[in-house]
Amino acid sequence: MSLATAPAKVILLGEHAVVYGHPAIAMPFPALQARAEARAAERSSLRSERYPETVAFLDEAVTGELAPATEALRGAFEALERLGSTQPLALVLKSDIPAGAGLGSSAATAVACVRAAFGAHGREAPAALVRAIATRAEAIAHGASSGLDPAAVCAEAPIRFVRAHAPVPLTLRAAMGIVIALSDAPSATGPMVAQVGERQQHEAGAREALVQLGELSDQGAELFEKGELAELGGLMDRAHALLASLGVSTPALDTLCRAAREAGAWGAKLTGGGGGGCAVALCPLELLEPVTAAMGAAGASHVWPAQYLLERKQER
Ligand code: MEV
Repeated sequence: MSLATAPAKVILLGEHAVVYGHPAIAMPFPALQARAEARAAERSSLRSERYPETVAFLDEAVTGELAPATEALRGAFEALERLGSTQPLALVLKSDIPAGAGLGSSAATAVACVRAAFGAHGREAPAALVRAIATRAEAIAHGASSGLDPAAVCAEAPIRFVRAHAPVPLTLRAAMGIVIALSDAPSATGPMVAQVGERQQHEAGAREALVQLGELSDQGAELFEKGELAELGGLMDRAHALLASLGVSTPALDTLCRAAREAGAWGAKLTGGGGGGCAVALCPLELLEPVTAAMGAAGASHVWPAQYLLERKQER
């Protein structure tokens, strides 16, 4: 048996803009994990504890919830076959990353599947291959993918990411608190990407907002590397306003961000595709509790606080 995992992700700056070639900053969020277990079998299949009624067989057409993960697994099998490994596998998925939250559930699931399939053959999947396969699977989940989510869930550290380029790791210079709060509605990444696509085609203002979002990512990467996190938080506030101007925020997300700022967060914004899903707040470690409480009291259905420390990679 081979067990593999991949974490959730959180985008600090640059969602949507990244689809148009602008930079973004994102990082893994290890408090939430997708897991895949692979066992040798007669016939390759995929099951998920989240959809217990469904079994996807890889030699049949697969639609619905398991289609992206099946696509990832097919990509892994093709790559393994080229290496001479052809053992059929039965995979079981378990995940505590909420689906439709903008936290990279589909990317993490795809990555865990590919890693588990390679692991079952006694191999380690090369990172660039994992990202490429997961990006193709993401296109099924969301209609289009810049590759940011797969890159962030494969990363060991925060990254600066530009579409079609290798992610560049950023160094954490100061400890920080991150709070993720789930709003009342699911994120709709596919429709939100399509909506922003429409607007950027027809509205100069939308194109300008995307350019500015990319500029915030560049400034944010510099501030991150200098440990100037209060200033980085200010950029997140501005990014939220730009994302709202593109129509991807909701009143619930605005309320969560406001509550986080009022509780002392350095900054807060929606994270991921928007249209629902999650808000993320950046705050000093000592304010992790009040910011978490404030976002909970402002209507979040779930709140996940995390500490990003200097010595160790990350802790809850
Ligand atoms: C989704 O997590 C991020 C988007 O920018 C889409 C993408 O980059 O593929 C909205």
